Amino acid sequence: MNTENKIRLGVNVDHVATLRQARGTPYPAPLDAARLCERAGAHGITVHLREDRRHIQDADVFALQKTLAIPLNLEMACAREIIDVALAVRPTEVCLVPERREELTTEGGLDVVGQRDAVFGAVRELGDAGMVVSLFVEPDIRQLDAGAESGAPYVELHTGRYCEATGPARDRELERLIEAAEHAHALGLKVNAGHGIHLDNVAGILRIPHLDTLNIGHSIVARAVLVGMDAAVKEMLCAMRGGGE
Ligand code: PXP
Repeated sequence: MNTENKIRLGVNVDHVATLRQARGTPYPAPLDAARLCERAGAHGITVHLREDRRHIQDADVFALQKTLAIPLNLEMACAREIIDVALAVRPTEVCLVPERREELTTEGGLDVVGQRDAVFGAVRELGDAGMVVSLFVEPDIRQLDAGAESGAPYVELHTGRYCEATGPARDRELERLIEAAEHAHALGLKVNAGHGIHLDNVAGILRIPHLDTLNIGHSIVARAVLVGMDAAVKEMLCAMRGGGE
């Protein structure tokens, strides 16, 4: 998917929908936010259609797929109901994630080893329907091996632990991500990364080799509240290019 040889930015606009759902108003629309991201230079848009529909709604996913020129990446659980929505929408990319209703955000990566049958089945079904499938996994060699075996072309490395860690633990988490990316690449997997990335930690993330796309949501939407979506996307793109450009 990455033809530019530069790390791509996928903006997750879930939390635009969080703001809308807080009041049950028709605004702000994730589609309007996504259009602004597109114009600001984002390479893709990501949304997570959760089983509890706490932010993104089915109609948002259909509208985004119909309207955007840049690829839509749908994050989703391996649940029959959501797989059926993906088959109806046919986004360019899907990313399989674990989901627990009580969590604040996606906690931990997908257990490809423990849920082998469900994950392998979903990868096959979504891949056969023409979607590019990614698996959101911890930087764990066993999960990556199982991911490669599933036939999914991409993994997305969960960067949450690194982003939350401090001191020496932070360096260890970055080492794990670097080793995982090397391992995934050697297995023939393409490598994305995401979760918890913001302007102050993205420089460390850029030390991970073989990165195709960074999927970033909460921090960009939070910045957009203060400086506008156009500026929020552009400043992240600038940080991803090492502060230049
Ligand atoms: N990638 C995946 C698979 C996610 O589940 C999320 C959170 O929805 C993100 C990236 C973006 O994380 P954040 O909102 O912390 O930037």
